[in-house]
Amino acid sequence: MNVLIVGSGGREHALAWKLGQSPKVDTVYVAPGNAGTGLDAVNVPISEKDFPALIQFAKDHQVGLTVIGPEVPLSLGIVDAFEKEGLRVFGPNKKAAQVEGSKVFCKDLLYKAGVPTAGYKVFTDYHEALTYIKGGGNRPLVVKADGLAAGKGVIVCKNRDEAIAALQAIMGEHEFGTAGDRIVVEECLTGREASVLAITDGQTIMTLQPAQDHKAAHDGDQGPNTGGMGAYSPASLVDDEKLHWIEANVLVPTVHELNRMEVPFKGVLYAGLMMTPQGPQVLEYNARFGDPECQPLLMRLKTDLVDVMEAVIDGKLGTLPPLEWDDRPAVCVVMASEGYPGSYAKGKIISGLDDAARIPDVKVFHAGTVLKDGNVCTSGGRVLGVTALGNSVAEAKKRAYEAVGKIHWDGSWYRTDISDKNEE
Ligand code: AMP
Ligand code: GLY
Repeated sequence: MNVLIVGSGGREHALAWKLGQSPKVDTVYVAPGNAGTGLDAVNVPISEKDFPALIQFAKDHQVGLTVIGPEVPLSLGIVDAFEKEGLRVFGPNKKAAQVEGSKVFCKDLLYKAGVPTAGYKVFTDYHEALTYIKGGGNRPLVVKADGLAAGKGVIVCKNRDEAIAALQAIMGEHEFGTAGDRIVVEECLTGREASVLAITDGQTIMTLQPAQDHKAAHDGDQGPNTGGMGAYSPASLVDDEKLHWIEANVLVPTVHELNRMEVPFKGVLYAGLMMTPQGPQVLEYNARFGDPECQPLLMRLKTDLVDVMEAVIDGKLGTLPPLEWDDRPAVCVVMASEGYPGSYAKGKIISGLDDAARIPDVKVFHAGTVLKDGNVCTSGGRVLGVTALGNSVAEAKKRAYEAVGKIHWDGSWYRTDISDKNEE
C-alpha cells in the first residue's frame, strides 16, 4: 500500500518515518514535505490546501491511506473532500475539526460534556466584551480569538488593562482577521501543563502516553510563545492514575458528547491540560497530533501505526489489542532559526546532520528545512526536532543534546532545559 502524508513539519517527518516502518507500506509520499521527509520518503510538491491536486495524486499513485498532519487543511474540510471521492483518509472531518478550529465550539462542547475547564463567556460585540472585562475587577483573564490564528490567538492577561489591550488587538484592530470576530474571555488557570492525546474512531478511545511541550521560547519558560521548543514523554506530571482519570473524565465524555451532537470524531483528539490544584482542566483541544509531542511519542510507539489508522477509518479500533510502547522515555529538542518566533532568516546551510544521526537511539526530525544545491538549508522558524530515547528522561535528554551539539548553522539556537520539569 502507498501512503500520503499531508504537511511539512516535524510532526509529518515523524509520521513518515513511523508509517514507513510498516511492512504493509510500499511508498510513503509527503506533500509538500521538507528535506528530511525527502530522505525518508518521497516528497510531492503539492500544497496542503490544494485538495483537488492532492486527491488526483492519491488516485494516480494508488494511495490506500492519506494522513493529514496540520489543523488548517482539517478545518478547511480536506477529510470530507477525500471521503467524497471514496479515498481512505485519517483525520476528523470539517465539523469535528471544530474542536480545534473554533474556541467557542470547544468551550461549549466541554461545558455540555461536563468536562472541567475554565469558566468563560463568548462575545461577538466589542463593547459588550469591554463592559464585561471592566466590570470584572482587576483579575487575570485569558482572551481568545475564536478561529485558527497559527497558535497566536490566545492572550493570557495578568490584569484588566492587559485584557482590554488584548480585546482591542483582536476585535478592535482585527489582528487575526475574521478569526477574531468572536472571542472567548475566560478565567485564568494556574498550574503545570501536559498534553494527553488519544486516537479514536468515535467509539473506542486509545489514550497515548502523556507528553509535555515547552511553549515558551527561552529556558525557564521565559520569553514569547512559540509552536513548541521541545517535548518529552512520558511526563511524570501525569502518572497512571491521573491518566486514567483524564481518560474517564475528559476524553470519554467528550467523545460521547460529540456523538450526541452528531459530530462523530475520528482521528487524534489532543487535550491540552492544566494540572490545577482542583485537578486537571482542559485548556484546549487540538484535532491532530501535537508538534513537537508527536516526535517523542512516535519514537516510543511500537505498534504498527498503519493498523491503528486503518482501524479508525473502518470504525474497528475496539478490535485491536492495546498499544505497545517502548518503556524508555524520549526527549525532543527543537533547534530554531535566529529571530523565531519573530521574523527570521532562511537559507542557512546546516552542517553535522550525519554526525548526529550516527548517535544510537537518536533521530533528527526535520521541520523547516529544504534541499538546495545538495545542501540541507533552513527554511522555517522551527528547523529540526532532535529526538532521542534513553533509559531515563535524564539519559534521553543527555543524548538529545549530544546530537544537538553536532549540528550547526549560522544563528541556530535552542532551549537547554527541555524535560527538566520532569520529576524522576
Ligand atoms: P490554547 O491554544 O487554548 O491552548 O492556549 C495556548 C496556551 O495559552 C496554553 O497552552 C496555556 O499556556 C495558555 N492558556 C490558555 N487558556 C488558559 C487559561 N484559561 N488559563 C491559563 N492559561 C491558559
Ligand atoms: N505542541 C502544541 C501544538 O501542536 O499545538
